[in-house]
Amino acid sequence: MKKFLITLMMALAPMTASAAGGAGVPLDSIDVDLTDKASLQRGMQTFVNRCMGCHEAGYQRFERAAQDLEMPNELVEQYLIFDPNTKIGDHMKSAMAKEDAAGWFGAPPPDLTLESRLRGSDWVYTYLRSFYKDENRPWGVNNAVFPDVGMPNVLEDLQGKVVNYCTPEELAHGGSEEIDPLTGKTMGGCLKVQEAGSQTPEEFDQTIYDLVNFMTYMGEPSRLESERLGTKVLIFLAILFVFAFALKKEFWKDVH
Ligand code: HEC
Repeated sequence: MKKFLITLMMALAPMTASAAGGAGVPLDSIDVDLTDKASLQRGMQTFVNRCMGCHEAGYQRFERAAQDLEMPNELVEQYLIFDPNTKIGDHMKSAMAKEDAAGWFGAPPPDLTLESRLRGSDWVYTYLRSFYKDENRPWGVNNAVFPDVGMPNVLEDLQGKVVNYCTPEELAHGGSEEIDPLTGKTMGGCLKVQEAGSQTPEEFDQTIYDLVNFMTYMGEPSRLESERLGTKVLIFLAILFVFAFALKKEFWKDVH
């Protein structure tokens, strides 16, 4: 039954995904590449280290990811599974109790297995790069695509402290013409790093790219599978063609 529901959710998800952010903010687009195993591996590393303290990916097994991303099980066990009670065949569950999380953050951190499918990869990519300083919020940050979000900017040490130079209206519509776009890439130049983090803006974009690439993989692991299958089918058809052609020649030999 659970499996059926997930399948149903996956089938219906694209209908609910919208191109724009929650507040109608224009989104930066991302060109995901599920064949880039190195990127997916880096993304999984970031996800496990930086997201799973609060979120889980309850429909994704470590072992399946290891297999799809071409990582040896031993390495995954050694570097990506922190809980001694978790086994490689287990789902990627969070150690945090849901009731605690709801109490701390106002809203519980949702399961992220299908997030990129529900919101769209562009949305997730933009969301993770759109936190900015806002002293009126409990965590001292707000988010351009998810106003008044309950999540802190957990990657601030990498990205740095980001300041919004636009009015709320400008921010909601993707920036202002008066702001030099060269000084900042996010939200039409509204959001700029004021205090540098440990990564340059380019490195940070790459980190988020890898992370969203991995989240996109989690949302549709079957796409990897069908890409692999597709190649096999083409090879099979090519071989079949050779035989069919030889057979045809054989049949028609006596007719001519
Ligand atoms: C300290 C806890 C915490 C960590 C760590 C954390 N998040 Fe969150 N996240 C939350 C909470 C709480 C919410 C719910 C916010 C709300 O609904 O207001 C949330 C919401 C989200 C959402 C939006 C969900 C929606 O409503 O569609 C996304 C996407 C997300 N987180 C991604 C991530 C990613 C990716 C990471 C790792 C880089 C991460 N989060 C790390 C607490 C956390």
